[in-house]
Amino acid sequence: MSKPILISGIQPTGRLHIGNYLGALKNFVELQNSGKYKCYFFIADLHSLTESFSPAEKHKQILELAADYIAAGLNPKKSTIFLQSQVSAHAELAWIFETLTSLGELKRMTQFKEKSEKEKERVNAGLLTYPALMASDILLYDAAFVPVGEDQLQHLELARTLARKFNKRFGKTFVEPKPILTESPRVMSITHPKKKMAKSEPSGCLFLDDSPQEIKAKISRAVTDSGSEIKLDPAKKAGISNLLRIYSSLSGERIPMLEKKYTGKNYSEFKRDLAELVADYFSVFRKKKKQLQTTHYQLQTILKSGSAKASQIAEKKTHEVKKKIGIEI
Ligand code: TYM
Repeated sequence: MSKPILISGIQPTGRLHIGNYLGALKNFVELQNSGKYKCYFFIADLHSLTESFSPAEKHKQILELAADYIAAGLNPKKSTIFLQSQVSAHAELAWIFETLTSLGELKRMTQFKEKSEKEKERVNAGLLTYPALMASDILLYDAAFVPVGEDQLQHLELARTLARKFNKRFGKTFVEPKPILTESPRVMSITHPKKKMAKSEPSGCLFLDDSPQEIKAKISRAVTDSGSEIKLDPAKKAGISNLLRIYSSLSGERIPMLEKKYTGKNYSEFKRDLAELVADYFSVFRKKKKQLQTTHYQLQTILKSGSAKASQIAEKKTHEVKKKIGIEI
């Protein structure tokens, strides 16, 4: 029997933070290495055009994300790693999906509401139609599984709705994808622990290639709560709970074990250990990333060959779609 298909992507908008890692990338690598899936991982550059950018910066961000993928353990021999814009079928099918999606469904999306509220003057139409493109990314490959963080669940739900809607109207064509969440589907900001860790607030992020000194400084400044107990209590102790979850996800130690280990110890001892853990955990990553970025050739080759492979699958699917909706001659 052929393996189930799995796909996910990340936007190239700068350095990855530990939320991207614990919610998504760490899991991409584990799922790839499990050998249970046929995996596709892509760089969602078309999505990232919805935010302001310069061409030189965008080019750099794409190659940087490719380096992040490989340094974290994605392997082009095991997974198809590609650049979204190189596979024109993504934009093509997205248009078709836009015609099947109501304006209301798109306006209800939390991400659209938040981003359009922030950028009142510069809300582009792509920010609104974004989930139709995301549905296209997934449905083109018959993906059964999509590993993502919690903030993407609403978009994934639209992909499921579109698959059902299309299948009902034009005949069975698409697979309805299911999300795969990690144990840390929503890592919080270390400065505002009631808010999600996000690139838009860099001071609240631990970046994967932060130096050990930066990690130490950031974690020692991380907002904790009154009291001194190291205990999971997201409602009353949001700060320490978030740090405990990060610790547990990286070390593999369960939270009750950590609570026990730190009984009678204070926040600063816990923070010192966490900073050491984070710095050590990403030390190989930092080295590999630097090495990969010395020459772009290797990264470009990986993306080109992955994109050629993905195009073959995606084009076949768009042919099928065109036929089903009656626009093929
Ligand atoms: P993006 O680029 O914003 O984020 C990449 C991945 O990181 C997860 N993530 C988090 N997980 C836990 N805690 C956090 N604080 C946190 N912040 C981000 C995201 O949930 C995501 O999994 N729309 C997507 C990219 C995309 C995509 C797709 C994903 C485009 N097409 C098709 C899957 C399938 C996005 O903007 O993710």
